[in-house]
Amino acid sequence: MDLIKRPRRLRTSPGLRKLVRETNINVEDFIYPMFVAEGAGIEREIASMPGINHYSVDRLLFQLEKVQKAGIPGVLLFGVPDEKDEVGTGAFCSDGIVQKALRQAKQRFPELVLSADLCLCEYTSHGHCGIIKDNKIDNDLTLEVLAKAAVSLADAGADIIAPSDMMDGRVAAIRKALDGSSFTDKAIMAYSAKYASAFYGPFRDAAGSAPAFGDRKTYQMDYHGRKEAMKEIELDIDEGADIIMVKPALAYLDIIHEAASRYDYPLAAYNVSGEYCMIKAAAGKGWIDEKGAALESLTAIKRAGAVIIISYFAIDAAAWLK
Ligand code: PBG
Repeated sequence: MDLIKRPRRLRTSPGLRKLVRETNINVEDFIYPMFVAEGAGIEREIASMPGINHYSVDRLLFQLEKVQKAGIPGVLLFGVPDEKDEVGTGAFCSDGIVQKALRQAKQRFPELVLSADLCLCEYTSHGHCGIIKDNKIDNDLTLEVLAKAAVSLADAGADIIAPSDMMDGRVAAIRKALDGSSFTDKAIMAYSAKYASAFYGPFRDAAGSAPAFGDRKTYQMDYHGRKEAMKEIELDIDEGADIIMVKPALAYLDIIHEAASRYDYPLAAYNVSGEYCMIKAAAGKGWIDEKGAALESLTAIKRAGAVIIISYFAIDAAAWLK
């Protein structure tokens, strides 16, 4: 054969393949999501998320040390409170579980970037991400509570506030509240394009946050859409978001790619609980190679354009990438 171009030439050795590699994932790309529970001495594995635990604050601190030693720049904290009520008091009270964790974490690990998820669903008795009035999620009433919660999380030591509720206008409301309390330095990482997804299932078990009635489709986005994601991202940027996010990641690589090419803002992608547990479950049965499948997925997320990858695989990936 008279072939001038032979792409296989560049695949002939590991060294050559590395040299021409276009995408490298790095431990510094990751944010590790963690669940903080009330109590002491608690390290309770989440059944549908092998390797991921609920930690009481004392145990969380041990784990944060591991995160830091692994070289992962930051974590994203979720609360698993003992008590819930109609308005999600646990989200904004100064002794809320995440607030308590932040205070200690900030003191012990000042160089770790602490992000706090900001949502009501873990704290409301009905499990919705907003305040309910006349059997409906009331957008504007919810904004007041989110703004209060943002200030409380910032005050406790969060460096980044990450609203995941999908209410209209939340980024503006949060920015205004933070600035009004002289937290002008606290960044907002907005879950901008957050789809109503079946891939959140294990998380809702983990956070005990499944809605008691209905679903989240009146606030999270319909997965058939693409333009709507760009609209949501633009709104969040206009309202003052510092980092934008697409969630989930793997079924939404097209959205990540488009957002990365359109907007000059750091883009995060959330490799969610369902994406994690599928690999874990298949690997547990010996049906798939865990490390191979995880690294391939994480690389795809970066190749699509994300600069921050929020993943339950972060600690394992840090070890694999060494
Ligand atoms: C809270 C929230 C959810 C996740 C992150 N923040 C659940 C949901 O919206 O129902 C999902 C994360 C995951 O699945 O790993 N609103």
